[in-house]
Amino acid sequence: MVKLAVLGCGLMGLKIAGAFAYHGHRVKVYDNNLSALNSAFSRLEEDKKQLRDEGLLLHKSFIGQVLFMGRLEETVNDADFIFEAVIEDLEVKKDLIERVSHLCKPDAVIASNTLRLSISDVAERVIVKERVIGLRFLFPVYYIPEVEIKLGSETSAATLEKVRVLLERMGKTIFFRSGEEPLILSEDQREERKNARLEQIKITSGVDFHLSNGIPTLSHKGNVAPVQDDIRRLNSVEIDHDCAICLDRLRDCLLQPCHHMVTCYNCASLLINRRDGCPICRQNITEIIRVYHS
Ligand SMILES: *[C@@H]1O[C@H](CO)[C@@H](O)[C@H](O)[C@H]1NC(C)=O
Ligand SMILES: *[C@@H]1O[C@H](CO)[C@@H](O)[C@H](O)[C@H]1NC(C)=O
Ligand SMILES: [Zn+2]
Ligand SMILES: [Zn+2]
Repeated sequence: MVKLAVLGCGLMGLKIAGAFAYHGHRVKVYDNNLSALNSAFSRLEEDKKQLRDEGLLLHKSFIGQVLFMGRLEETVNDADFIFEAVIEDLEVKKDLIERVSHLCKPDAVIASNTLRLSISDVAERVIVKERVIGLRFLFPVYYIPEVEIKLGSETSAATLEKVRVLLERMGKTIFFRSGEEPLILSEDQREERKNARLEQIKITSGVDFHLSNGIPTLSHKGNVAPVQDDIRRLNSVEIDHDCAICLDRLRDCLLQPCHHMVTCYNCASLLINRRDGCPICRQNITEIIRVYHS
């Protein structure tokens, strides 16, 4: 079980925490504002109710536990990943992240959910800057697959890889911001992507599915840029094209019914023989569809 800490229980922080708990992670949520912390429990219950109404939550609660904490040290001391989602103010973030860096485990990843600040600035007073990364979830977090990544000048490839694995297991897709402008979804785009996600979930858990029924691509200029170049710059391995299991052969097949393309044909055959699920979403594999690269 991955242990997570979310700092700040505002609108975004609470959605981030809920989304991780939904996917089975234990999440501690910290805020120094006690009245905000007190209302967080019932705000999270509203999210659960909505997810249940939409058929996305079958049980009464999330699989993962959410704990609300008023003390920073107890929130971060055992966390593997720490997500900061406090107000967009450089001094506040800088100060908080510096304090966190002294209290957390030496290998914990510290992620800042900033819209416009530079990660190098936010991490300025942290000694080990390699583990600080910018991660911006798109609202409403439960339904939007894209997560925007921003690297600081010293963010390490290992930090990026840990984050990528964590998020991909939750069905999220990471992308790099190209240029200064952050991706902000309009009301219509949010609605469109949420409906596509709901549709996709229904399809993959039902009997019928269509290959063409993916999530529509965004029309936002600049921000759909391929992530490959940035990853390659950091790490000469072509992470996204290699089989997630053998790390050797190319990804060349689609797993059914989830449509994840993460393994080579050989490894997919091993998975299906062992009755293992998809490495990303854990769904049972019913069929492997070979994909040929031209
Ligand atoms: C604390 O949270 C409450 C409720 O969310 C909010 O109304 C109030 O402005 C916050 N106080 C501070 C100092 O941020
Ligand atoms: C996967 O298949 C196994 C055995 O065929 C079954 O017991 C299990 O319930 C299935 N899991 C899911 C999530 O469908
Ligand atoms: Zn393989
Ligand atoms: Zn899958």
